[in-house]
Amino acid sequence: MKATLEALGAEIQAALDTCRTDDDLERIRVGYLGRKGRLTELMRGVGALPADDRPVIGDLANQLKRRVDERIESLRRGWEAERRAQALANERIDVTLPGRVGVHGHVHPLTVVLDEAIGILVGLGFSVYEGPHIEDDHHNFTALNIPADHPARDMHDTFFVDESHVLRTHTSPVQIRVMENQEPPIAALVPGPVYRHEVETVKNSAMFHQIEGFLVDRRVTFGDLKGVLALFVQRMFGDDTRVRFRPSFFPFTEPSAEVDISCVICRGARRLPTGDPCRVCKASGWLEILGSGLIHPEVFLSVGYDPEVVSGFAFGMGVERMAMLKYGITDIRLFYQNDLRFLRQF
Ligand code: PHE
Repeated sequence: MKATLEALGAEIQAALDTCRTDDDLERIRVGYLGRKGRLTELMRGVGALPADDRPVIGDLANQLKRRVDERIESLRRGWEAERRAQALANERIDVTLPGRVGVHGHVHPLTVVLDEAIGILVGLGFSVYEGPHIEDDHHNFTALNIPADHPARDMHDTFFVDESHVLRTHTSPVQIRVMENQEPPIAALVPGPVYRHEVETVKNSAMFHQIEGFLVDRRVTFGDLKGVLALFVQRMFGDDTRVRFRPSFFPFTEPSAEVDISCVICRGARRLPTGDPCRVCKASGWLEILGSGLIHPEVFLSVGYDPEVVSGFAFGMGVERMAMLKYGITDIRLFYQNDLRFLRQF
């Protein structure tokens, strides 16, 4: 029995000496010390030995078991320590290395200009409204006093969705929608995309953005319109920006005016500091930026307002146009091509 015990001890010793992994170690432990392990079985046999042998053999078996337990535990702890040291070495951080800068996106240049314009008008008391991009004939044209034979109703100018629906050609239909739903006083601002059946060029895009502004109350005058727009362009393009109103025509305003601002490049001087003529304003000193006017009595009638009692002004401007002027961009298509070399400049 003693010899068997010694042989078993040597065998375990040899197994542990060549053991390299946690799994092998566990297999060895179960094989010798588990419930059906060979050392366990052997120890179970101690009780059947002659009484004289029992204490000696029992003692030897217990010692062997303890030694094996300790050896297994120490191997396990040693490996664990090694692994931790390895991990620490691998994961050591060199605090002297330069940091890695994350990639940040930023808002699109059109959004910058849109947000800025909205911020200015909201500051003046206007509230933001939106309307559908697919608009019916009534809101896009008829209620705005645009007669049936008006060129804007031509297939060449407008995207028709069906007989009576179009992709809205301007943000003005939202004037009608807002007025249909509430009584004056109203100070509304309508940002959003509009669509025109255009050949795309450096100046024209079939989809672009407008900001419509309109105010309806009693005794609103052209002076109010002029005051709001003068303040708006000064905030938008600089305090020395001047406005000029030129008589114009829109079916939904009367009187109507195109509004020019003093050129943002030559500041109205028509020439650059170099003496060359300013190309942006074609040496005129002025840039056209929006259409405006006093809301036409027919428009008020179409929403059930009494034009004898209420009056109002409206204006509509192109967001791309403002962004192009502000940043000196010469091709409108750049806004939609998502070329990062372009977008990263803003
Ligand atoms: N809706 C006009 C356009 O798209 C602009 C405009 C708006 C003119 C409001 C006058 C008043 O050209």
